Amino acid sequence: MHLDSGERRREIWGSRFGFVLAAAGSAIGLGNVWRFPYLAGQNGGAAFLFIYLAIVLLIGLPVMMAEVGLGRFTRRNPVGAFAKIVPQSGWRMVGVLGVITGFAILSYYSVVAGWTLRYLVNAATGTFTSLTDPGQTGALFEQTVGDIQTVLTFHALFMVLTVAVVIGGVRQGIERWTLILMPALFLLLLLLVLRSVTLEGAAKGIAFYLNPDFSEVTGATFLAALGQAFFSLSLGMGAMITYGSYLSEREDAVIATASVSLFDTLAAFLAGLAIFPALFTVEGAEPTQGAGLAFVVLPAIFHRIPFGGLFGAVFFVLLAVAALTSAISLLEVCVAYLTDEKGWTRKMACCLVGVVSFVLGVPAALSTGASTFLSRLPLVHMGFLDLMDTIFGNVALTLGALLLCLFVGWRWLPEDALTGTMEGSAYPQLAHVWLFLIRYLCPLAIGAILLQTLIKLLLSG
Ligand code: PHE
Repeated sequence: MHLDSGERRREIWGSRFGFVLAAAGSAIGLGNVWRFPYLAGQNGGAAFLFIYLAIVLLIGLPVMMAEVGLGRFTRRNPVGAFAKIVPQSGWRMVGVLGVITGFAILSYYSVVAGWTLRYLVNAATGTFTSLTDPGQTGALFEQTVGDIQTVLTFHALFMVLTVAVVIGGVRQGIERWTLILMPALFLLLLLLVLRSVTLEGAAKGIAFYLNPDFSEVTGATFLAALGQAFFSLSLGMGAMITYGSYLSEREDAVIATASVSLFDTLAAFLAGLAIFPALFTVEGAEPTQGAGLAFVVLPAIFHRIPFGGLFGAVFFVLLAVAALTSAISLLEVCVAYLTDEKGWTRKMACCLVGVVSFVLGVPAALSTGASTFLSRLPLVHMGFLDLMDTIFGNVALTLGALLLCLFVGWRWLPEDALTGTMEGSAYPQLAHVWLFLIRYLCPLAIGAILLQTLIKLLLSG
């Protein structure tokens, strides 16, 4: 236990390991297996991968250190953290933006996690064993996400699970599970990779994924990679501020954040390496097919592994748990705000946010086939789920991260910012590198990418 600036007691992690587990649980999720591969497929494969890796190292990691440092220094929820450093200022709105973003992401995240639950049932009941090629798994996907009863039932089920865990207090049970389940997820991803890269004709997919062609890269590629880095590392909305607020001063936040980023990036990399080689072994396969990519390709790989049905079922269980540990952090940010700042009880906050988020998820759930209107909205020419993901999963997180850099780099006293991030670290010499990145490189790069998108939007509109 830790005395919170003399006012109240706040629980802290037993060790750095507790933080790494919870933060990795938040980071590793559908973002790695569902979102990363389909964005890489739509944005040129290897070129996207390399830009993504550079962004994680130069922008993602410093921003994660800043969030964790801010949380650890203030020991507050995201809104309270800003308010503690500059009371009575507009900066707390950055925290509020994060809370709203988390709530909005949760609504459609739960829909996609619902597909995962449905696929778990498919795998367990042997549905995949009779499907031999991606044409068939593709048809199954369309049918699954287009069925109103299926999408709503599993969306509701996942939301109930998330709410139940967060009401019970997050950390104890889940953390211990994560310790066993995450390595298992990595092992299964590795198995999938091994099978995928040894399929006949895999070379084409490996080249698509690892041999970059930068000639097609545009501003949109950078925005997609930047948004994906924030989404995947759970940045830009306060999840890492919240988790950092439970991290002890004695622990090395540099090592902890670097480990989380490394595991997260490895999981995404492996997911891509499992999907693309297998995809390209099929005549006429499209890497650009969009949000269904993982759900279409992965079941077709399991089919070609001995005991594939069993592995498939285990894989979707693990993916569902990974999605749950991420959804928990999305809900936790909203709940921490409502309980700390508005004095709600934990139970009331969990239930209300869960219900409203479920309702907001309904149009997203219906936008993948069940409703023709929601599947292709006028003006924006995309489905409701894609629209939510673009606004909140990409632009809002990016904006949140930009404001955070400006706050930590320019508004917060550098001494305090350095105490928050570097205290307890074995690498004090990195302090100035970090400060440079957070003051100059990160805000300039993020700002330039956002501005470029905005200009393009205005010109085309
Ligand atoms: N990082 C999670 C994933 O990759 C999603 C998430 C985004 C969680 C933002 C919290 C905040 O699935």
